[in-house]
Amino acid sequence: MEQVWDSSGSYVNDNTLIVTIKRLREKLHNPVCLEGESDVEILRCENISKVYGSGDNRVVALDHIDLSVEKGEFVAIVGASGSGKSTLLHILGSVDKPTEGKVLVEGTDISTMNPTQAAIFRRRKVGLVYQFYNLIPTLTVRKNILIPLMLDKRKVNQEYFDQIVRSLGIGDRLEALPGQLSGGQQQRAAIARSLIYRPALLLADEPTGNLDRKNGEEIIDLLKLSNRNLNQTVLLVTHDEKIALEADRVITIEDGKIISDRKRG
Ligand SMILES: Nc1ncnc2c1ncn2[C@@H]1O[C@H](COP(=O)(O)OP(=O)(O)OP(=O)(O)O)[C@@H](O)[C@H]1O
Ligand SMILES: [Mg+2]
Repeated sequence: MEQVWDSSGSYVNDNTLIVTIKRLREKLHNPVCLEGESDVEILRCENISKVYGSGDNRVVALDHIDLSVEKGEFVAIVGASGSGKSTLLHILGSVDKPTEGKVLVEGTDISTMNPTQAAIFRRRKVGLVYQFYNLIPTLTVRKNILIPLMLDKRKVNQEYFDQIVRSLGIGDRLEALPGQLSGGQQQRAAIARSLIYRPALLLADEPTGNLDRKNGEEIIDLLKLSNRNLNQTVLLVTHDEKIALEADRVITIEDGKIISDRKRG
């Protein structure tokens, strides 16, 4: 039985791996969007709902959400605690499935994938960054960053690797173990890992929640840099209004519904 890692550092087991990888490779090698193209819809949610539990424990975490995001957008998702932000991000990243509705990433419906397909999809198409960094403590920073590629036996594009680690300011810490890095540096390594596959979507759930203000600001600047320089599409969940104001677009969620969706002119 093999273990299938995704870019957030989690994994699933499956024995139908080979077939699934082959099929997904075919799909992923023929993306709908061309690199650098803008005004292209990269993500579409149609009528998604997520209900947890039943009876007295029934919680409607997402309530009929429609959403479209274009390549290269930097979107902040804000809302009170419990409003459904993480649930939405997990569904967009194929970590979780909606109870109802469809999620299309680059035209591929991810809402019907089985767990193995979803893990492989995440590894290649979605960069996930959480409050906790999920680096593997026994591997060097370099290896942690390269894990998604190593698992697919893909060669690293050295120029791109150097560009990422340089812009994230961890170029001189690559041979260290994660435990020898500061929290901010560990989060930058986690971001490098999430970017190494040039994902269609970078999904970040409170990535600064565990950092002090200075390191938090640096992480947001780096996400913005990857958005501007690499045309990386970013969806960022944050509690911090100041951070949200730096985004091109701010989506507010309340009780599982989008109550406002504002683009900055
Ligand atoms: N696995 C689960 N089982 C049952 N209910 C859940 C589960 N995960 C989330 N919920 C419920 O779904 C709702 C939305 O949760 P979610 O984690 O998406 O909120 P959030 O906006 O990310 O909150 P926070 O800002 O505190 O992180 C909450 O009422 C929560 O209790
Ligand atoms: Mg949350």
